[in-house]
Amino acid sequence: MGILFAAPQVEYDLIREEWLASVAQIGRQGVFVGGAWVSKFEAAFAAYLGVDAAVGVGNGTDALFLALKALGIGPGDEVITAANTFVATVSAIHHTGAAPVLVDCNDGYLMDLDDVRAAVTTNTRAVIPVHLYGQLIDLDEWKAWSEETGIALVEDCAQAAGASRRGQAAGSWGVMGCYSFYPDKNLGALGDGGAIVSSSPETAGRLRKLRNHGGEVRYQHELPGFNSRLDPIQASALHCKLAYLDEWNAHRRKAAGWYRNHLADVAELALPGHVEPDDGSHVFHLYVIRVGGGRREELKKHLQKKGILTAVQYPVPVHLLPAYAHLGYGPGSFPQAERYAQEILSLPMHAALQEREAAAIGAEIQSFFAAPPVTGRS
Ligand SMILES: Cc1ncc(COP(=O)(O)O)c(C=O)c1O
Repeated sequence: MGILFAAPQVEYDLIREEWLASVAQIGRQGVFVGGAWVSKFEAAFAAYLGVDAAVGVGNGTDALFLALKALGIGPGDEVITAANTFVATVSAIHHTGAAPVLVDCNDGYLMDLDDVRAAVTTNTRAVIPVHLYGQLIDLDEWKAWSEETGIALVEDCAQAAGASRRGQAAGSWGVMGCYSFYPDKNLGALGDGGAIVSSSPETAGRLRKLRNHGGEVRYQHELPGFNSRLDPIQASALHCKLAYLDEWNAHRRKAAGWYRNHLADVAELALPGHVEPDDGSHVFHLYVIRVGGGRREELKKHLQKKGILTAVQYPVPVHLLPAYAHLGYGPGSFPQAERYAQEILSLPMHAALQEREAAAIGAEIQSFFAAPPVTGRS
């Protein structure tokens, strides 16, 4: 068989002609950092999201780091986020000098505001809700709480490009929203890229300086800054792809429906909740199932043998990674995150997935569970 897990190469084929023409133009102009394409994409992305500004940066990790720096967060401060996120959310906090404070996830893999409230101390300066797997956390109550407490809301939108609820886009509840354009994201560049979106002109202005050595004008360094810029070759690819984003996300939701049709009867699995095709609050960056009976690895290997690639996002919760052992959380600190790390499996999900492929994957999973488990288990 042979089914792709993600399909950035298919997306590339669609934009190739248009993108190559823009690369030729960039080459002729000789502007390889900054320039018109970056501004053009930033304006288009901000308009698409309904926010005032988008500031392109080098990648999603830098987007989170620079967002926290723009808030003046550093040593002595605490920032709350999820134990089951990709490690970058936590490393971005760590490198500001602030302490990452983690919370467990609910059975939909998302953070709950009640857990965040319980983790607040007098040092808490910000919270980073992560729209994991493409699911938009409903942030209305979070926003009200943030305004009441003065604890800044910074959204990690890396996996949720195009997600919206009641007409409001990911990244528009918080003081800032941070995007990754890693190639297999729903809106992926042809290399690394990221952006921070904000409707605060002061914050956007500060971010434009921080990403460019502390100043917007050459040799006028107003702040101690960094070098983290989105380049025009990536910006032009993103500009081409933005035109397809809603269509691709709708396709992902349709594909989630196919999986549901083929897997709903498999008692050993927990599937993502049903999402209506027009419900923009989930953009299925990943389609994550849970495999019961301790058989996740066995199923993964079985599918791989049949040419179906799967992944585990993520196999070890952040607090159990060696890099963050110093935070002092041990096994048992976040039971849901720890249990799910043993059970989750991401099935192929992308804008080019075919119905017959979803059906074939469903059939393989059904036949795996219909057969008796391999020897060594009862
Ligand atoms: C939830 C989350 N946060 C942050 C990042 C970091 O983004 P990047 O890889 O562009 O640095 C990613 C993606 O890789 C992510 O999935």
